[in-house]
Amino acid sequence: QWTTASIVEESVQMIREQVGDGRALCGLSGGVDSAVAAALVHRAIGDRLTCVFVDHGLLRAGERAQVERDFVAATGVRLVTVDARQRFLDALAGVGDPEEKRKIIGREFIRVFEQAQRDLQAEAGEHGEHIDFLVQGTLYPDVVESGGGTGAANIKSHHNVGGLPDDLRFKLVEPLRLLFKDEVRRVGLELGLPETIVHRQPFPGPGLGIRIVGEVTAERLEVLRAADAIAREELTAAGLDRDIWQCPVVLLADVRSVGVQGDYRTYGHPVVLRPVSSEDAMTADWSRLPYDVLERISTRITNEVPEVNRVVLDVTSKPPGTIEWE
Ligand code: XMP
Repeated sequence: QWTTASIVEESVQMIREQVGDGRALCGLSGGVDSAVAAALVHRAIGDRLTCVFVDHGLLRAGERAQVERDFVAATGVRLVTVDARQRFLDALAGVGDPEEKRKIIGREFIRVFEQAQRDLQAEAGEHGEHIDFLVQGTLYPDVVESGGGTGAANIKSHHNVGGLPDDLRFKLVEPLRLLFKDEVRRVGLELGLPETIVHRQPFPGPGLGIRIVGEVTAERLEVLRAADAIAREELTAAGLDRDIWQCPVVLLADVRSVGVQGDYRTYGHPVVLRPVSSEDAMTADWSRLPYDVLERISTRITNEVPEVNRVVLDVTSKPPGTIEWE
């Protein structure tokens, strides 16, 4: 009987056999896959695993705390957070082109992660130890998509962490390689991870950086974070989290429109709500959210976020629209 408990047991056994008494690193993204992979490896080798979380400043409200507080509380994992917020802002200054932004975010992410790896490696070396293993949350569909083999890590990495350079020649530990997403979630629950992590909706690696149409600045990030937090709160309160695939909130930072608030004329920015339903993100339909939920989101955002004076709804399917705006 292939139960979740037996998957966990078997995986722990395999990780122990692979890693022996070696040490491992795992980059946490805040997403389900890396969290479950890390929790499994931690179950297997305890404090010989160190997790690294890069705060690139493009996270949504509460996401860093979710990793630092909730994930650590649930697992007891050793976590190093790298605060790279200023570095990313500097690198993104003056850049409005989506592809350029993605490239910069990807590049900086790899650099920061590598530096953290080197620092930890050096630290471990002082104690006569070496970190040989890198944990990745590669799933079975990723393996299949890449035609099997070790290229699997590259698809994801291409999206997120990036191909690792040769001087950091790690052996990969990929405990989720044989699992589908729903199994990964069950394993996460079995390991005691909170629902908020296990049932987290997809969120892109480049984060809010690709949800600000225009240049990314600290101020604009604050505005988008506030609007996004309200939309998420209301969707959760309405019990809609499991019905929609995800709901990007996009700040049209270079667009302004005239409005009126109280007795004053305003000249603020629009945000776009992009709720979608999907099975696998390859195609998507725009979600028919209840009008009263849309109304609450709109009212709250325009009342609580002074820079935003208009909330618009994206009613485009994918194709022709992608889910994200950039
Ligand atoms: P699109 O916009 O291509 O998005 O329809 C499809 C799904 O992928 C997510 N997405 C990303 N995820 N790194 C990621 O990890 C990325 O660079 C990235 N770009 C898009 C998006 O949120 C949606 O779920």
